[in-house]
Amino acid sequence: MSINFNYWQARIGKPLIFALCLLPFLLLSFRLLNNQLGANPIEVFTRSNGEWGLRFLLITLSITPLKNILKQSWPMQYRRMLGLFAFFYVFIHLSSYLVLDQFFDWQEIWADIIKRPYITIGMSAFVLLIPLAVTSNRYMMKRLGRNWLRLHKLVYLIAILAVVHFFLLVKADFYWPTVYAVLLGLLFTFRLRKYCSLPLGK
Ligand code: HEM
Repeated sequence: MSINFNYWQARIGKPLIFALCLLPFLLLSFRLLNNQLGANPIEVFTRSNGEWGLRFLLITLSITPLKNILKQSWPMQYRRMLGLFAFFYVFIHLSSYLVLDQFFDWQEIWADIIKRPYITIGMSAFVLLIPLAVTSNRYMMKRLGRNWLRLHKLVYLIAILAVVHFFLLVKADFYWPTVYAVLLGLLFTFRLRKYCSLPLGK
């Protein structure tokens, strides 16, 4: 039974999840190249990739609670891939801002980082994501030992910074930043319950 499950996971589960994770990027790129992103395609492309980055951060954070709720370990098999997709979408988000939005105008970019708090916070979140992406392999996991877990706790801070980034950049409609803040709050509550070892439902 477990052999079948492992076989299914390696042969179908992982490639399928990988393809699903890549789909938003492929669709967005297709629509960008075919002029289907409305009047301001670059803004839509940049924003949509940013939003997918945030979604993947939250999906990655929900893997441990999911494992605890299901009392099954298989969700953990997908955590690294999902975390790397969070990095991938944020990287595309940042690249499209640097290349398509600012045309590599480093002076303008630096001015943005200093002057606009939402860019400062977004940039901090990105910089903190780099060591997590670089160390998200078995070799670094082994090398860093317990420090690996400590380092990867940074993902909570990154998610908070990403939600703050979203709150700061919207001017009037706070609906979606609030939705993400509530979801993040729920994930924190799960974490704290686990930390305080309170069984679920009590
Ligand atoms: C963990 C890192 C980051 C995450 C998760 C993230 C996420 C987001 C989200 C969710 C949005 C709003 C999307 C929407 O309106 O639907 C956004 C917008 C934006 N982000 Fe980020 N972001 C990150 C880092 C950065 C960085 C490093 C930069 C550039 C230095 C950046 C620049 C922008 C810009 C320019 C916008 C659009 C603002 C506008 O058009 O008004 N972000 N980001």
